[in-house]
Amino acid sequence: MNTTKIILITGASSGIGEATARHLAAQGHQVFLGARRTDRLEKLAEEIRSTGGLVEYRTLDVTNFEDTQAFADFALEKFGRIDVLINNAGVMPLSPLHELKINEWNQMIDVNIRGVLHGIAAVLPDMQSRKSGHIINISSIGGFQVWPTCAVYSGTKFAVRAISEGLRLENKDVRVTIISPGVVESELAHTITDPGTRSMIEDFRAVALKPEAIARGITYAIDQPADVDVNEIIIRPTSGAQ
Ligand SMILES: NC(=O)c1ccc[n+]([C@@H]2O[C@H](COP(=O)([O-])OP(=O)(O)OC[C@H]3O[C@@H](n4cnc5c(N)ncnc54)[C@H](OP(=O)(O)O)[C@@H]3O)[C@@H](O)[C@H]2O)c1
Repeated sequence: MNTTKIILITGASSGIGEATARHLAAQGHQVFLGARRTDRLEKLAEEIRSTGGLVEYRTLDVTNFEDTQAFADFALEKFGRIDVLINNAGVMPLSPLHELKINEWNQMIDVNIRGVLHGIAAVLPDMQSRKSGHIINISSIGGFQVWPTCAVYSGTKFAVRAISEGLRLENKDVRVTIISPGVVESELAHTITDPGTRSMIEDFRAVALKPEAIARGITYAIDQPADVDVNEIIIRPTSGAQ
């Protein structure tokens, strides 16, 4: 069994975050879960506790910095340190640019970029002062490639990779990992409101990984010794279209 780490996961109420919470708790880590749907977090925490796992949760909206700081502070007060932050929360209301869904563009920028920056800001001072810590940011294959309807979403995921690389270069004591999933079963496409995009995306997402595959990739990066920083992992379905 590995040494227990204090691991914060944003967007833990479904999909990749939920699977990662289960997986890391089963490895003996103390997980601390955040998302807006507290009822989901409560159910997941009950399930993890029933199998002997160490878990806490708190309502979290990553678009709000004060809320994100309060989430980190809760963990710092309770556990005295944060070993790992997984900036996983994300939204993907795709549409062609000419639809001018400006509110949805802003939502993606607020959650996928600002949310990641808020997470970094909330934990970095503690990690810098202890000269130890690990920040894992979830990007996407959309952080490498752009498809029609994905301009803004891809823009946010390119940004996550750029921010992660800057964070890594500036912090020699903090490990930084970018995880870029291909298509994964989750609720991510539920936020698409444009009917044409929704049906196109169903085909694009026909072959999908289980979220546990991403959880295992994240765990691999966490499990490395402190002097090993896994910078970037891309995880796609073997037979996927992309
Ligand atoms: N599934 C894929 O194919 C895929 C591929 C590449 C990358 N990704 C990335 O993987 C990450 C996880 O997505 P997923 O696929 O697991 O989708 P998901 O099932 O929709 O999960 C997204 C999570 O983000 C949370 N979230 C959304 N807005 C939030 C906010 N303002 N504050 C806090 N939490 C918020 C949601 O919780 P609440 O609604 O309860 O707040 C939910 O727990 C995202 O960053 C996504 O871009 C996914």
